[in-house]
Amino acid sequence: MTTQKKDTILKVDNIHHSYGKFKVLNGISLEVKRGGITALIGPNGAGKTTFYNVISGKFPPTRGKIYFNNIDITGFPPHKIVKLKLLRSFQITNIFPELTVEENILIPLILKRGKCYSFFKDLKKYKEFYIEAENIMNNLGLIEFKNRTVSELAYGDKRLVEIGITFASDPEMILLDEPTAGMNPAETERTVNLIKDLSEKSNVTFFITEHDMNVVFSVSEYIFVLHQGSLLAQGTPEEIKNNQEVKEAYLGGSV
Ligand SMILES: Nc1ncnc2c1ncn2[C@@H]1O[C@H](COP(=O)(O)OP(=O)(O)O)[C@@H](O)[C@H]1O
Ligand SMILES: [Mg+2]
Repeated sequence: MTTQKKDTILKVDNIHHSYGKFKVLNGISLEVKRGGITALIGPNGAGKTTFYNVISGKFPPTRGKIYFNNIDITGFPPHKIVKLKLLRSFQITNIFPELTVEENILIPLILKRGKCYSFFKDLKKYKEFYIEAENIMNNLGLIEFKNRTVSELAYGDKRLVEIGITFASDPEMILLDEPTAGMNPAETERTVNLIKDLSEKSNVTFFITEHDMNVVFSVSEYIFVLHQGSLLAQGTPEEIKNNQEVKEAYLGGSV
C-alpha cells in the first residue's frame, strides 16, 4: 500500500447504511487526502451513490462517523455541510436553465460574498465577478457559450456548467458522481481532461465516481474500490490495476 504524505480532508470511520432491512454500506472506513483527484469505483450497485448521499448529508449513516477537515459532520443536514465547503455536484438544484452560462456561474460567485443577486441589473459594476466567471468558463471550455442560455446547450456542456457552478461556489472538496454518465467517448475524454485541469489549477479536492476504468486510471491519483457495500481495495492506479481481488470483482468488466 502506498503511503500518502498529504493531509486528510475527509475521513469516514465505519460507515453503515441500510434502506430498511437492506444493508447497502457495511462498515466503510477511508481517508481522502487533500488536493488532486481521488476516485471511488465499484460495480453497479456497489453503494457508491449511497456513500456520496451519506457523506453529503442526504441520509445520515445508520452507524459510523464522518469528519471533514477534522470536524465531525455526522448527521449534519446538507446545507450545513455545503457551508463547510464540501459540495456535491449534480444534485443540481442550483442550475437555472433559462439564464445564460455566464449568469449561472456569476450567481454563486456573488452569493459566496454574501451579496444578494436581486441587483442583477447593477452587476456590470461588479467587474471582479465577471473576471472570475470568465476564468472559470475558460477553464471549462465554456467561454464560447457564455451568452447562451443553458437550456440550449448540448448535454455534455450542461454538465460542465454544473461543474462550473459548483466550482464557483468556493468549495474545498467536490464530490462528482459519474460526471461523464450519458456521454459519448469523446465527450467523456474532454470532460475528464477539463476536470483534471481544474484540479491542477486549484486547491480543490475532487472525489469522483466513474464507470470508465481507462478514465479512472488516467486521471486519479488514488483509488478506492467498493464492492457490495464494503471497501475491497485501495491504492494507486497501478496497484489497483494489478489487484487480483479487484479483477475478480469486475470479472467480465473492463478492468
Ligand atoms: N433509495 C433507495 N432505496 C432502496 N434501495 C436503494 C436505494 N438507492 C439505492 N438502493 C440500492 O442500494 C444498492 C446500492 O446502490 P447505489 O448506491 O446506487 O450503488 P452504485 O452507485 O454503486 O451503483 C443497490 O442495490 C440499490 O438497488
Ligand atoms: Mg451510482
